[in-house]
Amino acid sequence: MIEHRDGTFYLQTAHTSYWFTVTEHGHLEHIHYGPRLAIQDPSALRWSRVARGGSTVAYVPEDVRYSLDTLPLEFSGIGQGDYRTSPCEIRIPHVGYDLDLVHTGHAIHAGTLSARTLPTAHGSPSEATTLVVDLVDERAGIAVALHYTVFAAADVITRRVVVRNTGAAEVVVEKLLSFQLDLPEATLGDAPRLITLDGAWIAETHAHDRPLGPGFSGVSSSTGSSSNRHNPGFLLAATDAGEDHGRVHGFNLVYTGNHHSSVERGATGLLRVAGGINPQGFSWPLSPGEEFETPEAVLAFADTGFNGLSERMHRFVNDHVLPPRFRRTPRPIVYNSWEAISFDVSERRLLKQARRAADLGMELFVIDDGWFAGRKDDTAGLGDYTVDATKFPRGLDPLVAKLAKLGLQAGIWVEPEMVNEDSDLYRAHPEWALRIPGKPPRPGRQQHVLDLCNPDVCDYLVDSVGALLDAHDFRYVKWDMNRHLADAHSPHVRAPGMTAHQYVVNLHDVLRRIFEPRPHVLLETCSSGGNRFDLAMLSHSAMIWASDDTDPIERLEIQQGLSYLYPLSTISAHVSNAPHQQTLRDTPLSTRFNVACFGVLGYEYDLELLSSEERKEVREQIAFYRAHRDLFQYGRFRRHRKPHPDRFVWQVDDGERTIVGNFQRRITAAPAPDLLPVVGLEPGTTYRVRSKPQRLMIDRFGDLINHVTPVRLDPRGMVLSTAAKFTSLTDAAEEYVGTGALLAQGIRLHHQFSGTEYHPGIRMLGDHGSTLYVVERLEEGP
Ligand code: DGJ
Repeated sequence: MIEHRDGTFYLQTAHTSYWFTVTEHGHLEHIHYGPRLAIQDPSALRWSRVARGGSTVAYVPEDVRYSLDTLPLEFSGIGQGDYRTSPCEIRIPHVGYDLDLVHTGHAIHAGTLSARTLPTAHGSPSEATTLVVDLVDERAGIAVALHYTVFAAADVITRRVVVRNTGAAEVVVEKLLSFQLDLPEATLGDAPRLITLDGAWIAETHAHDRPLGPGFSGVSSSTGSSSNRHNPGFLLAATDAGEDHGRVHGFNLVYTGNHHSSVERGATGLLRVAGGINPQGFSWPLSPGEEFETPEAVLAFADTGFNGLSERMHRFVNDHVLPPRFRRTPRPIVYNSWEAISFDVSERRLLKQARRAADLGMELFVIDDGWFAGRKDDTAGLGDYTVDATKFPRGLDPLVAKLAKLGLQAGIWVEPEMVNEDSDLYRAHPEWALRIPGKPPRPGRQQHVLDLCNPDVCDYLVDSVGALLDAHDFRYVKWDMNRHLADAHSPHVRAPGMTAHQYVVNLHDVLRRIFEPRPHVLLETCSSGGNRFDLAMLSHSAMIWASDDTDPIERLEIQQGLSYLYPLSTISAHVSNAPHQQTLRDTPLSTRFNVACFGVLGYEYDLELLSSEERKEVREQIAFYRAHRDLFQYGRFRRHRKPHPDRFVWQVDDGERTIVGNFQRRITAAPAPDLLPVVGLEPGTTYRVRSKPQRLMIDRFGDLINHVTPVRLDPRGMVLSTAAKFTSLTDAAEEYVGTGALLAQGIRLHHQFSGTEYHPGIRMLGDHGSTLYVVERLEEGP
């Protein structure tokens, strides 16, 4: 809901308010972003101006107390006496950088207003309202439109900016951020915190939480994509905020390209938060009459801690970012060929896996990399999507038909933005790769980036991927992208500083042109795992491959980091082999599943190598996931405060059902009993909490197995290895009963094994152990 009263704009969501007003000199003064307040005279929340600021410059000589440097502002210009970072640097001929943006009018629209060039969030008139505020600097010939969309039920406000050259000469946009927010620092306590999601390949989105220092802090990327180094999303939290209490602000961008967000902590008592396209290497000339639009920024606030903030962001992404055709739809359980077979795919090898996958209950079979001509390894083939006749002599259709007979839908992997030098496409069109004139293009994973600024390249991608999808009955595509941009120069843009952004604009257009007309195809995007885990990619896809790292212990950090801002329905997570191919860590099959089920479950495993016991375990895992799929994909997710640095506790619930996962990274000797809180239940109702049955594979215990066997076995001998294939122990069967109020205190879990004795009531966690607890309602409270 948006109201404009006496020069003040009141943006109201279900639980938050965002207010700003027009000052006597026409600037937009930010007043409040926080808990919802009834609409009223906002004067008491306005920043004091009764004394002149020291070391400031007055905006006009006749009003010396009015300095832009000490005001909370909605969107600063440049050169007017506000010395904090400007969201907007536009070079005006003969003037340089001087922009005084003053209010001229506004309009309110029902629903969302789509951007011309970039994906934006969507919402019907009953879900969203958009305010467009016009600011102008007439002398500079610049008009700026600030867009605010209020998603009332989701408790999210989005912002973006459109700038227009209204003058007679070309200007150059050198920096244009999507939003600026000047927040009173004291609302976040004496030591506000910044939380960012950072990492690298196979170690993406680890959450880092630190006190905000003076000066600048922030995140950015210059890889051409949203990047695995610093996700565009971040949070600002009050000193004392925790998972379930305290004030937290969340920010994200609907953008896939180079991004830059900063928090400036100065001495004025205001924090300036701003974010958008990274100005490094960016410049965009605007001829008279032309416009440039920024990506959309997403803002949310909660005074109910990180979990409260996450719940709002999750709902927003599910309902207003993901394509409407995937809204709240169940994601299938996927089998993916990559980790088991790599490039060595063939009809015979894939079918062997498919028979097992179908038998175990999987639903969709993905033919990953290696299926097309010349793709023997990563040195060749990218660019040519014709089927490799040696691997598939009869083409892909017989395989797809056999998958269908097995009850499996078929999916296919592509990496269309890339080209190998050893490909027909590159031999025909070497000029289609991005390159600096006069220099050979630099390879990354032995491949080059196609110049998506070239419309012919875009048409080629739309036609070739479109033809592939139309020729076969594929219900799923994994769209991969395995390198960063370098040599970002295209002859198809007017100025060099346009290449990286134009690439992203055209990429989204290509994705739209391919997938919108084919709504039966589920799209999963991927970029060496989570190198492009962002809201703009999610505006086309149902989910994103979160990381090439499927080691569950690494995934605890990765998925927990993502969960701050992205819902579980978007986090693709697979069970794979152990010892793990990237970490050599040996983890129990139960933990690999227990982590992957908090997301979109899949398997990426040589199923032929599973023992009979492991097959039973996987079959039960899949049945369990299917029974609770809606809870794992769309339930309310909560992170519990970590009781110990090596423990993670996750919960999903939907008001009816609750499942809690307890994960132990590392055991400490002589552990004290663990507490397991179960929250959000009805205080007076009685519940039963039972551990999900799971198997302990006996070969995990080596010689220790002799403590429980009647005859002595050689841990490396035939007898034990044969027995391990067909027998297992039951992991502790636990059961606890109590009211919701009691369970919230933290169940005192059974002792875990600590070398004193073994019996089936003892939890056998060790390093990397985990358990899922299923909560069932027994009787209503009075
Ligand atoms: C990187 C992806 O993240 C993997 O899952 C796999 O698809 C490979 N690319 C294939 O080359």
